Amino acid sequence: MRQNIVAGNWKMNKTLREGVELAKELQNALQAEKPNCRVIIGTPFIHLSEVCKIVDPELIGVSAQNCAHHESGAYTGEVSAEMVKSTGAGYVILGHSERRAYYHEDNAMLKTKTDLALKNGLTPIFCIGEVLEEREANKHFEIVKSQIEESLFHLSADDFKKIVIAYEPVWAIGTGKTATPEQAQEMHAFIRKTLAGKYGQEVANEISILYGGSCKPSNARELFANPDVDGGLIGGASLKADDFRGIIAAF
Ligand code: 13P
Repeated sequence: MRQNIVAGNWKMNKTLREGVELAKELQNALQAEKPNCRVIIGTPFIHLSEVCKIVDPELIGVSAQNCAHHESGAYTGEVSAEMVKSTGAGYVILGHSERRAYYHEDNAMLKTKTDLALKNGLTPIFCIGEVLEEREANKHFEIVKSQIEESLFHLSADDFKKIVIAYEPVWAIGTGKTATPEQAQEMHAFIRKTLAGKYGQEVANEISILYGGSCKPSNARELFANPDVDGGLIGGASLKADDFRGIIAAF
């Protein structure tokens, strides 16, 4: 079911104690404020189980930021989808541009990760997006389409409906340079059209498509007002409860 969603991606920030504090602060504030959207926080692996004990799962969903592309075994330092699930987390961010760029995650690997996440009952928050050179060369639609096709289009319609898409233009991440509401809507409509072409309009209409990249309380409302923008994936502004709440309040 298509939902409005505000999801935080803490990236590699916060000690365990700081993360627990932030989760508590959000839990207390949102309990009183009753958000009009689904709220998710994406914490480092080591925080997951503690944070899951603190938050009410109806109020705040908990997400990992990655999982391994193998089921289990001799992969030192890796964390499997099954392990993520066992912490109580319900979501996993996959294919973030930082993972693609720094850890060489390609569309084929992300296809495997998506399958493992779904097999273990996790909802993937699947990130796609072009780098600046690709946009300047007018290749952004083509790039985003191939990211979706190569990692997700093997899924059945029933499985595809479990996916959340996050469009994050790489040039807008952590740069303070947000996509304009028009640029966001244009790409989100293109993504939905691409999904409709494969799975039909009814399925495409059920998918939540989030925008990510320098989203903050001051620009969230105009971004989320677009018909195909169903919320945001928030980096920097998810690290402070007040900023994150300000974005949630845009709904
Ligand atoms: P910023 O909100 O810090 O630009 O990060 C966006 C992001 O990468 C979320 O996954």
